[in-house]
Amino acid sequence: MCGIVGAVAERNITTILIEGLKRLEYRGYDSAGLAVFSAQDGLQRRRRIGKVRELESAVADDPLVGQLGIAHVRWATHGAPTERNAHPHFSGHEVAVVHNGIIENFEALREELKTLGYVFASETDTEVIVHLIHHLLKSTPDLADAVKAAVQRLHGAYGLAVVSAAQPDRLVAARSGSPLVIGLGIGENFLASDQLALRQVTDRFMYLEEGDIAEIRREQVSIWDQAGHAVQREVVQYHEGAEAADKGHYRHFMLKEIHEQPSVVQRTLEGRLGKDHVLVQAFGPQAAELFAKVRNVQIVACGTSYHAGMVARYWLESLAGIPCQVEVASEFRYRKVVVQPDTLFVSISQSGETADTLAALRNGKALGFLGSLAICNVGISSLVRESDLTLLTLAGPEIGVASTKAFTTQLVSLMLLTLALGQVRGTLGTGVEAELVDELRRLPSRLGEALAMDTTVEKTAELFADKHHTLFLGRGAQYPVAMEGALKLKEISYIHAEAYPAGELKHGPLALVDADMPVVTVAPNNELLEKLKSNLQEVRARGGELVVFADEQAGMSNGEGTHVINLPHINDALAPILYTIPLQLLSYYVAVLKGTDVDQPRNLAKSVTVE
Ligand code: F6R
Repeated sequence: MCGIVGAVAERNITTILIEGLKRLEYRGYDSAGLAVFSAQDGLQRRRRIGKVRELESAVADDPLVGQLGIAHVRWATHGAPTERNAHPHFSGHEVAVVHNGIIENFEALREELKTLGYVFASETDTEVIVHLIHHLLKSTPDLADAVKAAVQRLHGAYGLAVVSAAQPDRLVAARSGSPLVIGLGIGENFLASDQLALRQVTDRFMYLEEGDIAEIRREQVSIWDQAGHAVQREVVQYHEGAEAADKGHYRHFMLKEIHEQPSVVQRTLEGRLGKDHVLVQAFGPQAAELFAKVRNVQIVACGTSYHAGMVARYWLESLAGIPCQVEVASEFRYRKVVVQPDTLFVSISQSGETADTLAALRNGKALGFLGSLAICNVGISSLVRESDLTLLTLAGPEIGVASTKAFTTQLVSLMLLTLALGQVRGTLGTGVEAELVDELRRLPSRLGEALAMDTTVEKTAELFADKHHTLFLGRGAQYPVAMEGALKLKEISYIHAEAYPAGELKHGPLALVDADMPVVTVAPNNELLEKLKSNLQEVRARGGELVVFADEQAGMSNGEGTHVINLPHINDALAPILYTIPLQLLSYYVAVLKGTDVDQPRNLAKSVTVE
């Protein structure tokens, strides 16, 4: 899995494919390849391990010219990163396929296809798709029809691009659980897994929906939905300024990145969920084998990423029954650590270059961990290169120094890890995985609902603009969310903010509470709610002003000095992700009121590559 580009045109499309791959490089990959059809040479391909520039020089040394082609950057899931396993995969020189996602029943299909005489050249799950389509073409000669029949046999997730030497005027695409977008040109059309790859050639796009199959020709695009009905998909036009490195209509990158969270969370989930379970292979080819041995987890990270790790500890222990320790990297790296047997080392980092986190990973290697997993946003980072397994957070470039969308995509990735470990170890309760997979699918729209409270939160921010200190309270998995809320506020508004588990209030911090010290609380509707309500009474009794982000079903209402902002009800396990959003908005609007440099707060750097 990773990135797809395809094109059908009158001109030579090789350079368009290579440029498209370069634009997908940010996602991280280990090999690249392309296949091009020409009337003279038929279907030809080039594949290389490593960077797209290696592929580019291979094509420069031995040119490929054609008007139809598909290309891919691969992140190994089945089979090592070798040239043989790189896409496109061929069936003879007749059919070529590139694939994002994971085919779970590939072993059964492989055996079936072998009995039909197919010889496999790679260890990938993808190769079964190309031979299956080749086989089906014998009885179903139209390429789109053969792809429709083939996908009926596939279990798992896929975004596919298929070409056939016998039908060189078309490209066929299929989407289920892995995104695809068609780029519309004049007398030429394109396909990609991300519109960024095609901004070089067009600004008009059609997004395929789940279950869609598309036949893309130079002058015509036909799409069929899951039920096989011909459908039209809306054409979306992008204007200059919609690029990731542009603020668009937002005043700051931070606000833009806060608002991107529904779409980046969606992207982080794509290709990683089966019908009712997490696809374990999304963590890499050796993940299932390694996860089966894991009895403990050690998480190491810094700052916001550390807070994500703290939430994960609640999830790993309560949902998957796996003991978990979490520590800031700058402490872990210099401490004499005792490693429990069969412990998985998990590092979390937006940049993948944080000096302390990297040093902790390097030291960890000598300490006898079972293996290492990086949860990271930058596919080409040192942390990813030096870890055994990786799950990319796919948040896209984060420009604002204060981390926002990286945090929520880290949380989503850590929930995937919790479910994957629990699944492999058989420690999840009955129905837990199916329920949470369902809830994860709904999460992007829930985050959208939370973002719709933007103006209410903006109004609430006025309470803080003249304050010098703030307290954030949370219980359970909301305690690290409160810590993250406090970190955001101090980073960008320079207001001193501290987070406490609400139960600790009377053990000290209550002494600080008065009318000048507002208290912010996150209150989902869970078994800790009543206890939290008592803690809030303690604050009110001392004249402290309360801002409560509460579940709409929690029965909390505004009162003298108490400002309640209701959030949509959500499964308790996913509540930390949802409750992060209003806290980010609150810090943002307080900082705007105070006139600070929101995107580049004083004294801070985006990537902390020194100790
Ligand atoms: C806070 C923030 C920092 C980073 C920390 C770790 O908004 O951005 O606390 O989270 O410096 O950075 P990464 O995640 O790149 O390792």
